[in-house]
Amino acid sequence: MLRKVIILIGFMGAGKSTVAQWLGKNLGWPVVSTDRMIEERANSSIKDIFVKNGEAVFRGLEKAAVEELKDKLEIVIDCGGGVVLDQKNVEVLRTLGCVVYLSTRPDTVLERVRHYSHRPLLNVPDTLKTIQDMLSTREIFYKQAAHKEILTDGKTAEKIGQEILKWYDEYQ
Ligand code: S3P
Repeated sequence: MLRKVIILIGFMGAGKSTVAQWLGKNLGWPVVSTDRMIEERANSSIKDIFVKNGEAVFRGLEKAAVEELKDKLEIVIDCGGGVVLDQKNVEVLRTLGCVVYLSTRPDTVLERVRHYSHRPLLNVPDTLKTIQDMLSTREIFYKQAAHKEILTDGKTAEKIGQEILKWYDEYQ
């Protein structure tokens, strides 16, 4: 029997937040975002934490947020895109529930993030090249962390959510 937690991982712009909201609504479970937890606890935006304290401090806060979620049940977790870079985070998340990787092509990511500036790692001159490089480095981490991969290119949040629920029901 699976633990009743669905955890969404994947690159920035994969649609984790929107899909998490859809799932939360359909399952009647609250949605928790690791990024929002960090911002509340640090009383600062992710962007400011990166600028003022650096990525290492952010990753420490992210690890603490994941640790805090350890005993939760019946929630959907929307994880920051880099959460899988830490093996301990991956262990905690996989023990906590079903880890679903929302995978995306680089051009889809670019399309989804181009109008926003709140992601410090993508505020760079050649965004597409950065996305391609980061995705190719991270893909193995996402795949190894996940119980299930869902391709998201060209799909609505509803379609992705339905695919996740179908898999979740069959997997139980
Ligand atoms: C990051 C992804 C962001 C946020 C931070 C770092 C990453 O979250 O945690 O900017 O390293 O991929 P989203 O994936 O929700 O944009």
